[in-house]
Amino acid sequence: MNCWDKLNRLFPKAGISQIRAKRVLLYGPPGTGKSRFGRMQGLLPDQPVFALTLHEESVADEVRGMYLPNGSTFEWFDGPATEAWRIGARMCFDEIDRASGAMLSLLLGYLDDHEVAQMKLPNKEIIKPHDNFCCVATMNGELTDLPLALQDRFTVRIRVDEPNPDAIERLDADVRKAARNTVGIADDARRTSIRIWKEFCAMRSSFDEEFALATCFEARASEVRDALRVARA
Ligand SMILES: Nc1ncnc2c1ncn2[C@@H]1O[C@H](COP(=O)(O)OP(=O)(O)OP(=O)(O)O)[C@@H](O)[C@H]1O
Ligand SMILES: [Mg+2]
Repeated sequence: MNCWDKLNRLFPKAGISQIRAKRVLLYGPPGTGKSRFGRMQGLLPDQPVFALTLHEESVADEVRGMYLPNGSTFEWFDGPATEAWRIGARMCFDEIDRASGAMLSLLLGYLDDHEVAQMKLPNKEIIKPHDNFCCVATMNGELTDLPLALQDRFTVRIRVDEPNPDAIERLDADVRKAARNTVGIADDARRTSIRIWKEFCAMRSSFDEEFALATCFEARASEVRDALRVARA
């Protein structure tokens, strides 16, 4: 069973009435469809989705919330993870492996088992996660790039090293095979991404194939031209 078979089974495109996996990590090479999947599939009817890309300087306020001036006083505003806990939203964290120490510790709290999860906010309020709260995190590194305790909180971890088949189906028919053979592969020098193939298809319809090859693939244009020729044969 490949990664997308597993993911489509866990997170069907529509019609779910109960969250089946609450803390999911999708990791692997860029441009395979991880983030889009996290934002779009396996949602309950009308379930909101909040997305945040983490980086080395991400701070707790962006995730947990903060006091902001309101007239002559300060008012508490929930950050996306706090709001997702309260209302049972899907929280998507992209590039989770780029978060630094303090943020990683905060994430341990937000990703605790629902049974034990509880947090005291700076406004002294004590909150617990809604039953429908679900987190899908993505990153390009390997699982072992995360601290052990954070790895352990992702009870579903899936290495995504193939392009989402739905994305391939949306490309022009004559490039699908070449895309399938090169998106997500381990070899950095030969790897392509769904993004680039989408752009290539759009560009060649506005200009011509040679221009699209040279613009989207630069030095690799002739290699991709050969791959397309073989795939079309
Ligand atoms: N099922 C799909 N149908 C159509 N387009 C898709 C689908 N899945 C992904 N794509 C497109 O592929 C591109 C890459 O998707 P996405 O950003 O989800 O990849 P990613 O794996 O998160 O990449 P990165 O690791 O670089 O963040 C986007 O343009 C996205 O719209
Ligand atoms: Mg992504």
